[in-house]
Amino acid sequence: MQILETREGQMQMDNQGSNTQELLSELYAVTQDLVSIHDEDYLLDQILTKAREFLKAEAGSIYQVKDSMLHFTYVQNDKMFEGSADLRLDSNMKPMEINESSLAGYTATHGEMLNIPDAYEIPAEVPYSFNKSYDESTGYRTRSMLMAPLSAGEKVIGVLQLINALDEEDGVMPFSVQDEMLGGFFANMAAFALERAMMTRDLILRTMRMAELRDPKETGAHVNRVGGYSADIYAAWAKNRGLDTEEIEKQRDLIRVAAMLHDVGKVAISDTILKKPGRFTDEEYAIMKQHTVMGARLFKDSTTDLDLLAADIALNHHERYDGKGYPGQIQDIHAEEIELGPGKQSGDLSIAARVCALADVYDALISTRVYKDAWTEDKVLDLIREERGQQFDPEVVDAFFTTYDSINATRQRFQE
Ligand SMILES: [Fe+2]
Ligand SMILES: [Fe+2]
Repeated sequence: MQILETREGQMQMDNQGSNTQELLSELYAVTQDLVSIHDEDYLLDQILTKAREFLKAEAGSIYQVKDSMLHFTYVQNDKMFEGSADLRLDSNMKPMEINESSLAGYTATHGEMLNIPDAYEIPAEVPYSFNKSYDESTGYRTRSMLMAPLSAGEKVIGVLQLINALDEEDGVMPFSVQDEMLGGFFANMAAFALERAMMTRDLILRTMRMAELRDPKETGAHVNRVGGYSADIYAAWAKNRGLDTEEIEKQRDLIRVAAMLHDVGKVAISDTILKKPGRFTDEEYAIMKQHTVMGARLFKDSTTDLDLLAADIALNHHERYDGKGYPGQIQDIHAEEIELGPGKQSGDLSIAARVCALADVYDALISTRVYKDAWTEDKVLDLIREERGQQFDPEVVDAFFTTYDSINATRQRFQE
């Protein structure tokens, strides 16, 4: 109790009473940023980063509820490593039952916060206990913990766990009662943003599953991969250009989600063409090309950044740097008869479209598909080098090779 009062007292002395209002408006600004994020991965990373910044916590993690189990999905720890670790593919991380025996389980079961001054001094009479295995395997010492339920309405969709509140000298202290209040509010907003991002992803995957039924080449895994590659290539390109980091992150988030929808227009192409084995006739190929225009049409009258970008990518992902792509210049994409125009020049194409064009071709070549074997990696990379400045924008090709490690990681993560 003694120590609890210290952090409160310190805050009040530092901020002379006006602190609550300032903190609340700061908190409001932080959570508004979260709500504008579309992509689940980036959002998880930002929830942890912002919560830790705001409550000055050394480490933190997120658990997500899936199939009635708690999955330990994201972790940050300034003392142990830089940035975030995504644990969703780590097969050593077993999901936990949602019951009172663990801290996260208790929080999820009751939808209530837990403020633990020292994880090693939890009284024996409470139902939950602290699992020391992470500390034992890493040498880290967990002391104070703040567990907040991520609840969307009645439903708990996860748990936000903050570890080791730091004082001005980076010493560890318990979380204060004020931290509980701010953390609780933050967690509510974060849960709202997370549920929305999960719904966006589900909706996109469902839409693409519909397209997949029509065209077996467009699988959910392909869509996830193209989104991931596009985000990475864009970020490398933007970094090479020295763009502002925050701007890069925002744009990267949008591109990842919008690129997943690149072939959504295929839902409008007839089965006889989509499922035709063997080569297309010229006439069939001309119809096939219309999936670009059909895709863009789906976003008619949209005004959000995400929809506008998705429409742009759907329309232009088969354009080429040398102007030999399709659908080319079109007077009115909503006209009844679509006439494909002369190919657009590189200058007419957004960076998102140029990036997605490379991501899509790379994935098509390197994956095994029903009608063809995968090319070897060397052969694919050679082709990309050869097409630098022809099919593909040279700057985009350079960015692709700069970030090839993360592209490989994305490919491993989303396998068929
Ligand atoms: Fe396409
Ligand atoms: Fe594709």
